[in-house]
Amino acid sequence: MSGNGRLAGKAAIVTGSDSGIGRAIALRFAQEGAAVTVNYHRNAQGADEVKGLIEQAGGRAIVTQADVAATADVQRMIDGTVRAFGGLDILVNNAGVEIPKPFLDVPEDEWALVLATNLTGPFICMQAAVRAMLQGQRKGRIVNISSIHEDVPMPGNAPYCAAKGGLRMLMRTLCDELAPQGITINNIAPGAIATPINQRTLADPQKIATLNAYIPLGRLGTPEEVAAVAVFLASDEASYVTGSTYFVDGGMTRHALGL
Ligand code: BGC
Repeated sequence: MSGNGRLAGKAAIVTGSDSGIGRAIALRFAQEGAAVTVNYHRNAQGADEVKGLIEQAGGRAIVTQADVAATADVQRMIDGTVRAFGGLDILVNNAGVEIPKPFLDVPEDEWALVLATNLTGPFICMQAAVRAMLQGQRKGRIVNISSIHEDVPMPGNAPYCAAKGGLRMLMRTLCDELAPQGITINNIAPGAIATPINQRTLADPQKIATLNAYIPLGRLGTPEEVAAVAVFLASDEASYVTGSTYFVDGGMTRHALGL
């Protein structure tokens, strides 16, 4: 483990890294030499497991419980990271939730929850993280895990699409505001990835077959395939990349059904 990995010497926070895409990103970042704050909201066991795997491989990690939509929690997470690792270089806004429902059935509290986790959370985390990056004079990297649904409508998932669309414009706007400080910000837009957020689909072979037929590469993606792009965007190699969305979707977004 890696004095010479692609993220050697960097300190990173990955929100929602107790499972799914976040977990794969935390593990991969550590493999590449970053010290990682593994964040969870409710799944302490998952977060501890990720920390254990990182340490077994010779890496550095801490675990922090925080609701990304709660300012005090987030500040505690940032302060803890700076204290443990001497600064903050990379923030990955990964924590997310979706509650698919036809529009007319969406109760206001579910709308509020989905917006809080997927959009207000990244806002709060970025504000606190950027302050820490500036204080440490780091040329920080921000990577948001959005979704192809930052661009592509998904009927029956309006709050999620609204939040991810908002995350797209937040990223684009902050690109301009943060560039003078040398901080880059990009989104990754995963398509259908096999993770717990897709549990209901994964349990239904019929749905999987329909989905596979729809995706040009013919299969769901893996969390590791998303993590590979996150490593690039968080690394020094991505020094001239900011304000963009990287689609990791097996071509799903480009697919047009023939007549
Ligand atoms: C959603 C998944 C969905 C995928 C492709 C993701 O953002 O979380 O539920 O399968 O987009 O539509």
